[in-house]
Amino acid sequence: MTSHDHAPLSLESVRQRLTTHTFGAHLVIEDQVDSTNRVATILGQQGASHGTVVVAERQTHGRGRLGRSWVSPGRMNLYLSILIQDASIRNVGTWLPLMAALAVRRSVNEVTGLMTTLKWPNDVMSSRTGTVRKVAGVLAESTDRGMVIGIGLNVNMALADFPDDLRSTASSLLIELGHPVDRMVLLAKMLGAVEDLYETLTHQPQQVMTEYRDACDTLRKRVRIELAAQTPLEGYAETIANDGALCLKTADGQICEVRAGDVVHLR
Ligand code: BTN
Repeated sequence: MTSHDHAPLSLESVRQRLTTHTFGAHLVIEDQVDSTNRVATILGQQGASHGTVVVAERQTHGRGRLGRSWVSPGRMNLYLSILIQDASIRNVGTWLPLMAALAVRRSVNEVTGLMTTLKWPNDVMSSRTGTVRKVAGVLAESTDRGMVIGIGLNVNMALADFPDDLRSTASSLLIELGHPVDRMVLLAKMLGAVEDLYETLTHQPQQVMTEYRDACDTLRKRVRIELAAQTPLEGYAETIANDGALCLKTADGQICEVRAGDVVHLR
């Protein structure tokens, strides 16, 4: 089997597997879009309901964090965006992307047994092959009425499918596990995990924060935070604040709360 031979995503097959009430109740699967985040934002403006999910087989302009692009070849991976626009979002907004990364981690583990870690804020990492590489990322974007949470998970992409410059830092479940994974089973499980974690986040946020802190590999490490056009910040990652910020102790003993940036683990 090459990485191109996987079954196409089918609305019926995903629906049969869904156990959720809200997330995916309105589910759209497209063959090709520019960005599922953009499509979900437009659907939200047109009145789509909280929990609407847009999935695409491929994206022509997949968006990544910090203005980057997200490589999105067809029929291999999962690219989805979830519309979050109920009242609870006011209290938990900053935690939504972190929660989404946790949902990816949970569902990957449930479906494949692979244990991933989280790199703050919302990168899902695997080291099964001996090198720590990123298998999934989350991009949260604000909308008029809430937020769109976009998730990109590299599922059945082979090493040869990645551009050269990503091969040392990015991976897929196929590469990590040595076998392909059913994307529809994974998608249904992921939406189940999102629904479960969202419910917990809005009622008992400390539970989700504890699960996140346990899964986050950035904590208790020396790290460098890189932000475009700013001097990098180095320090010891002490904890994650209750608003999701990374608390760094710098060389002069100050605690700095970081809310955006790229983390490099130093040791
Ligand atoms: C990152 O840079 O780590 C975040 C990547 C997020 C990619 C996903 S794919 C589905 C959704 N649509 C987009 O355009 N981006 C997100």
